[in-house]
Amino acid sequence: MHSIENKQGQESGTKVLAVKHVVQAQTVMEGAGVQVRRAFPTRQIDYFDPFLLLDEMGPTDFRPNAAKGFPDHPHKGFETVTYLLAGGMRHRDSAGNSGVLRPGDVQWMTAGSGIVHSEMPDPEFARTGGLMHGFQLWVNLPRKDKLVPPRYQDLAAEKVPVGESADGLVKVKVIAGEALGVVAPIETHTEIMYLHFTLAPGATFVQPVPSEYNTMAYVVSGAVTFGASDLSRVRKATSGQLVIFDRLDEDGQNADGSTAVAFTAPANESLELLLIGGRPLSEPVARYGPFVMNTKEEIMEAVQQYQDGKLGEISAGH
Ligand code: CO
Repeated sequence: MHSIENKQGQESGTKVLAVKHVVQAQTVMEGAGVQVRRAFPTRQIDYFDPFLLLDEMGPTDFRPNAAKGFPDHPHKGFETVTYLLAGGMRHRDSAGNSGVLRPGDVQWMTAGSGIVHSEMPDPEFARTGGLMHGFQLWVNLPRKDKLVPPRYQDLAAEKVPVGESADGLVKVKVIAGEALGVVAPIETHTEIMYLHFTLAPGATFVQPVPSEYNTMAYVVSGAVTFGASDLSRVRKATSGQLVIFDRLDEDGQNADGSTAVAFTAPANESLELLLIGGRPLSEPVARYGPFVMNTKEEIMEAVQQYQDGKLGEISAGH
């Protein structure tokens, strides 16, 4: 079955992307003492154009009244995408917005010209405690969109479209982009795909990805084998690892034209992974903490704005 699919892929000219790096996410403390596994930026990979950061929050099992979060902090010049798998998170910001993220919910925040927000455990969740687990992805904005007004796109769990293979072995939640004939409703300034796959034990899948994209995968649970054409060239990864794909195919050829990522779950275990890709901006990046601009001068301006209170503050009333 596996090899037949690959042969079909090759006959139609699709090239399966080779794996370039497999890196272990690093445990770091963020916010008010939240343990996150940081896939990047690390010393090894500081920017994967157009992506600035990928953090796995938890999974952490909090005792009652012990959950921690991210108190008031600014962002400017990019977007944050929060995807919660378990727990509850409440956000509030300087523009007066507030809301609660529940398991399966997605919040796409365009910080643009600048915002101050907090991301804290939902009070109800904090009281009872329990498992907190989720992801935050930072997507850079192109120079022309860096100063757009801040915006939220909230996507409740039941509104995240789900694709399923005909045999039911492969399911995908389509947060951005398109898979298995299903298209995400989120509007993105930077062209990206963000797919959450679940594969039954032994299942295999070939996902087309635009050849101009920078593409990566993060293993949420289980183990995965990437590659298709040649057993000597497959690469394995396990939970907590980030996989960066090459611009070359498995035969070492330039992967222009029609490209894809091929992945297989182990025979005895199901697999969950995030497959994320985007069109590179190819613009200069000046970065300082929560500010991501194109020049050092723009960063200094952002810091000054924040210090002067011009990015706003969260009022006590909401
Ligand atoms: Co934030």
